[in-house]
Amino acid sequence: MALTDSEKDFFSTLVADYAQKEVFFSFRKALDKVGKNAFVRNRLLREDDPSFTRLPVQADPEDGFLYRFDRSQRLGKSLLHALGAFYILDASSARFTWELSRLLPPRALVLDLCAAPGGKSISLKVRRPDARLFANDISRPRALEMARNVERMGLCIPLLSLDPLSLDVPSLFDAVLLDAPCSGSGMVRKEEKMAKDWSRKKVESLLPIQEALIDKALSLLKDGGILAYATCSLSKEEDEDQVERLLRRNGDVQELALEERKEYCRGRHGVHLLPGTFEGEGFFFSFLRKKGRDAREAAEFKPKKKAPEEGYSLFTYRRQDYLVESMPSDLVHLDYLKPGIRIFDASDHPKFPYDHDYAKVTTKHPLLPLSEEEAVRYLRGEELRTNRNEGDGIYVLTYDNLRISFAKKDGSRIKNYLSKGLRQEVLPLGV
Ligand SMILES: C[S@@+](CC[C@H](N)C(=O)[O-])C[C@H]1O[C@@H](n2cnc3c(N)ncnc32)[C@H](O)[C@@H]1O
Repeated sequence: MALTDSEKDFFSTLVADYAQKEVFFSFRKALDKVGKNAFVRNRLLREDDPSFTRLPVQADPEDGFLYRFDRSQRLGKSLLHALGAFYILDASSARFTWELSRLLPPRALVLDLCAAPGGKSISLKVRRPDARLFANDISRPRALEMARNVERMGLCIPLLSLDPLSLDVPSLFDAVLLDAPCSGSGMVRKEEKMAKDWSRKKVESLLPIQEALIDKALSLLKDGGILAYATCSLSKEEDEDQVERLLRRNGDVQELALEERKEYCRGRHGVHLLPGTFEGEGFFFSFLRKKGRDAREAAEFKPKKKAPEEGYSLFTYRRQDYLVESMPSDLVHLDYLKPGIRIFDASDHPKFPYDHDYAKVTTKHPLLPLSEEEAVRYLRGEELRTNRNEGDGIYVLTYDNLRISFAKKDGSRIKNYLSKGLRQEVLPLGV
């Protein structure tokens, strides 16, 4: 069931608080249309890779990682999606992380406080692989979903599931991303549920939570650090009013100016993205810098053993070994959902010593390329047959530049090592 005309009119009145007349009218008109979907491309797959060239997508003219596609395309069910070629998210969320990615210093230490299911974190890490990103979400089921998404993309992001307000960590981050829980009115066109569940009371109940999270985010920043605040709300109360109150509470915070763009609807503090002027859903973001010059570099934890892969450190957590890109000493004590890429299977009777995660990064195993049809069958859990000449042993199966998982070649058999939870039915291209 689509939004009724009176719902469309109502949500337009929220926009009237800050949008100029023509933006307001194009927003109202856009609510009658179906928006596009979007994804961020993983670095592992290049635009000229054969499988990517077949995708029915339009590249964003500026953002080299963003592509839009029609909702009717079932790309979320495709082989490429299952192998982590891309992450589907709203183009407005992607724009926010694109802007943030341009503000970060090299090897920035970043914390995403409300990160699940992982869209902004993944989008940022793909753009800035040098960033030392940690991602947290208060909800465990959502954080577990984020873990599956991060693993699928083969990214190394330490994951937490804690109440941000209870985080016992000093001021050491170069940036804190706060995609705050909000009324979700910006998503009304895409998710009708947001319209049906919306109430002024809901907005008001969220304001103190957002405020507490903003203060916490600020306390975690080192001097000079950036607070990236965002909501998918159309209400100025959750957006620029929150930023204004923060600026009033803290003399040591300064708003960062962004380049003017015709698709940006300027609020008093920050940018609104609105259907009609931007090909994405309603969104707000603002970047704020914590003033001061007392920043010190976070000291790195020194592991006892060397990591088996170049460019990673070994972090032993609850008797399991993980590859991490960075582990500041001040973050070692945290209760992790998963601190990095797990490199062995810790279950009682592992079928195979390595963890599926490790297949995404290992340089110690030879690669065995599969055809599209073989890859689909492998993901389904089938054993494959081959007449290839490669010797017997453990391989990492690939499709294009994407890694699938480990397998054992034994004569003409390719034994399937994919755990039951990861087996799935996918469509070759999903179309
Ligand atoms: C807008 S969503 C985050 C979306 C995510 N950043 C992404 O891009 O995929 C807001 C998140 O805030 C979390 N949340 C809800 N209530 C919260 C609270 N009181 N404190 C902290 N986080 C909360 C939710 O679990 C939810 O995942």
